[in-house]
Amino acid sequence: RRQPSRKGSMADVPDDLLEQIRYLERIFTVDQAKLKEVTKHFVKELEKGLSIEGGSIPMNPTWVMGFPDGYETGSYLALDMGGTNLRVCEIILLEEKGEFDIIQSKYRMPDELKTGESEELWEYIADCIQQFIEYHHEVEDLEKLDKIPLGFTFSFPATQTYIDNGVLQRWTKGFDISGVEGKDVAPLFEAAIAKRKLPIRLSALINDTTGTLIASAYTDDTMKIGCIFGTGCNAAYMENCGSVPKIASYNLPPDMPIAINCEYGAFDNEHYVLPRTPYDIVVDEDSPRPGQQAFEKMIAGLYLGELFRLVLVDLHDNKSCKLFQGQDISKLRKAYTLDSSFLSMIEEDPFENLSETGDLFRRELDITTNKPELELCRRLAELIGTRAARLSACGVAAICTKKNIKSCHVGADGSVFNKYPHFKARGAVALREILDWEKGQKDPISILAAEDGSGVGAALIAALTIKRVREGNL
Ligand code: GLC
Repeated sequence: RRQPSRKGSMADVPDDLLEQIRYLERIFTVDQAKLKEVTKHFVKELEKGLSIEGGSIPMNPTWVMGFPDGYETGSYLALDMGGTNLRVCEIILLEEKGEFDIIQSKYRMPDELKTGESEELWEYIADCIQQFIEYHHEVEDLEKLDKIPLGFTFSFPATQTYIDNGVLQRWTKGFDISGVEGKDVAPLFEAAIAKRKLPIRLSALINDTTGTLIASAYTDDTMKIGCIFGTGCNAAYMENCGSVPKIASYNLPPDMPIAINCEYGAFDNEHYVLPRTPYDIVVDEDSPRPGQQAFEKMIAGLYLGELFRLVLVDLHDNKSCKLFQGQDISKLRKAYTLDSSFLSMIEEDPFENLSETGDLFRRELDITTNKPELELCRRLAELIGTRAARLSACGVAAICTKKNIKSCHVGADGSVFNKYPHFKARGAVALREILDWEKGQKDPISILAAEDGSGVGAALIAALTIKRVREGNL
């Protein structure tokens, strides 16, 4: 395939459409000065979240008290409830340093479940685990099995008093299951497991970012931060207990490490610094939790397609340029009908005439496009994707600034990081702009693909917990 030459691609775009493109460029572009301003405020908010009074970023202590040494062993189950899929894994940590075997099955997380009743969720999860165990183990085997320790990656904000419990603070990522917020999810999960007499013991309840941090550090000891850029966005890093005023009453050694799940999707819920557009405001207001996850709603995979859709509908209905004039856009009117892969495909269209994008609109939305409209769509996808990557860098830069980390690796996972075109490169450019690295200098902080945090990370944390309990520590 020919690489596109996009130079002068706007030449044939009529003035009224061009005017809209320029407007969108103005509202969706985040320049270097703004990135720095956002990061500066972010650093303060991270600090505030660790204080007794707290702030809008939860900064949840996870009770993961250090990194693995690579010699953890044993068999573990991991349950990964992220946002889009449900995954069950069996992980065997091997004698050889840093080595493991993994088998896994993915299950769809039906949309109805995300906004249904608590009971249905736990029943469904337990069914998936049962299916997995029965498929991978002989029945006679099962009867002989001791309870297998399970690490549950529950990727939502939870308040933990110890590693095997967690009170859901609030649903994020479009979930809205009644009767779970404010409750400890461990007994809810355990009751469904007990009902089926599954040979499982919940050893650790973790966040995907914490899992990513631990799994990445397992194979690369320069990994200091674990991030998710996927359906949601968030990061975890190691703090010293002495720097976390809100756990002072536990009297832990001040230099003992503790992983903090930032939950920084909630950054700037008070709308102080983020450059929100009118479209971001609609995304927020129409979500199940308006006023929550302000940062996440501008950058995470769940929302990118929705932002794109809202702009197109607005240009069709309200603007003089009359995008898609005379066409039936009823399919496009359906909220969340486009996911971030739609934008990925547009950004990846290699043809100068954007013919693949045209096909996509026809196929998915029954909309016939002309070349200027396609140019607008391409530019809009670039703007939304670029803004997401650049703002994402602020969170990483803020943690590095707060911890005075001058060089490290950052382990990242999630569909946006792994699949969205140019996300990594755009994020790296932004990090460079924020942290003012010298020209020609190799990036001292780089964001790299992580190990599987929600699977291997969960197993490692279960192993570390069991070891700690055995040794009588905490
Ligand atoms: C949301 C969740 C958070 C998770 C992130 C990435 O922000 O609240 O717990 O880590 O999504 O999955």
